[in-house]
Amino acid sequence: MEKRWRVNACQSVNAMINFVSNNAQTGVFSVFGMRTVYWDFEKQEVCMIDQRRLPAALEVISLRTCQAVSEAIKNMTVRGAPAIGAAAAFGLALAVRESKFGETASCYSDLQAAAAVLKAARPTAINLAWAVDRMLKVIGGQLEGRTLEELQAVALSEAQRIADEDVEINQRMAQHGAALIEDGDTIIHHCNTGALAAVDWGTALGVIRTAFGQGKRVHVLVDETRPRLQGARLTAWELQQYGIPYEIITDSMAGHFLSRGEVQKVLFGADRIAANGDVANKIGTYMLALAAKDNGIPVYAVAPTSSIDLSLADGRLIPIEERDPEEVLGIRFHGEPIAPQGAKARNPGFDVTPNRLITAIVTENGIVYPSFEENLRKTLKR
Ligand code: MRU
Repeated sequence: MEKRWRVNACQSVNAMINFVSNNAQTGVFSVFGMRTVYWDFEKQEVCMIDQRRLPAALEVISLRTCQAVSEAIKNMTVRGAPAIGAAAAFGLALAVRESKFGETASCYSDLQAAAAVLKAARPTAINLAWAVDRMLKVIGGQLEGRTLEELQAVALSEAQRIADEDVEINQRMAQHGAALIEDGDTIIHHCNTGALAAVDWGTALGVIRTAFGQGKRVHVLVDETRPRLQGARLTAWELQQYGIPYEIITDSMAGHFLSRGEVQKVLFGADRIAANGDVANKIGTYMLALAAKDNGIPVYAVAPTSSIDLSLADGRLIPIEERDPEEVLGIRFHGEPIAPQGAKARNPGFDVTPNRLITAIVTENGIVYPSFEENLRKTLKR
């Protein structure tokens, strides 16, 4: 069902031209010439960079069913909070086309079932549920007097709007955040928050990219981010494309560099932010923020307002995804398994950094400082 192709430099330019002319997009910023997730208007399918293959190969896959999109989110073909939100939105556009019912009212029950499967694919990042609910609301509001074909157009244009807005929001966040970066800063960055984690440009890495584009000299210490190695595989690959100087460190080295005065800032993204400013993000973020706080180094979370979940009073209520222990145990060292046969492992995908360790949260509406309880609400109203 799935189609796959490798992108070389020439194809990448063609993809961009095809893409811009077909879609009247707000823009393509990735040096790899395409968005991380996009709709192919000619073939009527959703395309995404296969992030499991990077950095070995830049491959794009195209999917024609909502079920296939759910699986791609679950198995992390596509990953990063904003990217999975956009992918899910396109997934629901596919679900309208797939509906077994010939009329719109019954189609909606199919959509609700598809929405539940999408949401369950990854429970921590609120952007996924946010995008799915937004799609359901828009489609649900247009059911009266529409043909199924018209409803498909409604769904697709809303999904495209979510994707386009994401790019524009990342750009705005990056402008706000770049003001925090000073010439000569060394920054520890956790996980991957670049163009690959969003539709384009990125959140925390987008801030670094914009600061670098403004002529500030920055150096990035890239947490490798065990166990899926999003830092070593994806962030390092992106930084290489952008020409930004970096070095990979193991997650356990961060405290050392922070205590030696070698680091001026810590930046990461967020998968969900509770009403009190507690931040759920990739596993390892909490320990990094603790070490930064102990050494008086500012810690910035960069996330769109769609990552803020005011329905949860604090971070203890955020559902944490537990993934397959094989992700921890399956790594090989010098060709040999890293653990004895039969070893067990734990594998929570995220942790919660309490608000007291966060200096500020950068959103598209501006930089939010404590008290987060009060100021996050104000930011959302803006
Ligand atoms: O498991 P992943 O790779 O989807 O986790 C991604 C992160 O934790 C990012 O830091 C987060 O989504 C915010 S950045 C867009």
